Amino acid sequence: MQINVNGRLVPIPDAWQEESLLQVLREALGLVGAKYGCGAGLCGACTVLLDGEPVRSCLTPVSAVVGRQVTTVEGLASQDKLHPVQQKWLSASVPQCGYCQSGQILATVALLNRTPKPTEAQIDEALSGHLCRCGTQPRVRKAILQIAEGS
Ligand code: FES
Ligand code: FES
Repeated sequence: MQINVNGRLVPIPDAWQEESLLQVLREALGLVGAKYGCGAGLCGACTVLLDGEPVRSCLTPVSAVVGRQVTTVEGLASQDKLHPVQQKWLSASVPQCGYCQSGQILATVALLNRTPKPTEAQIDEALSGHLCRCGTQPRVRKAILQIAEGS
């Protein structure tokens, strides 16, 4: 079995083929940006993009992503240049502990690809499944609005 992660085809050893995508990313491939939070689809910390749409990698069997494109937070930057959402996260000091932030960033990338100028209601809907114990949601919302305004 091979899966495409961040534009690269990666062989998945037999021992990992029954595991979740999250386990494979973190433990087999060393891509630790996606985090284990609840393990039950409730917190969003494990979010990655599958063909550009956010999915909970804790609930996604790795076998289900064969032939599809997985993007993790590690795959957003190109060469030495951060993705504009990552740049805004830095300049606006969005993260606190950071645990939820790769999921928040990837959900934001998907939202802005679909809806470049989202309303606050659309932002809240897209990010509502992403729990942040540090209370960064107001900064997340503000950063997305600033990106949408081009500021
Ligand atoms: S760890 Fe996957 S949704 Fe919480
Ligand atoms: S920044 Fe700490 S959980 Fe969100």
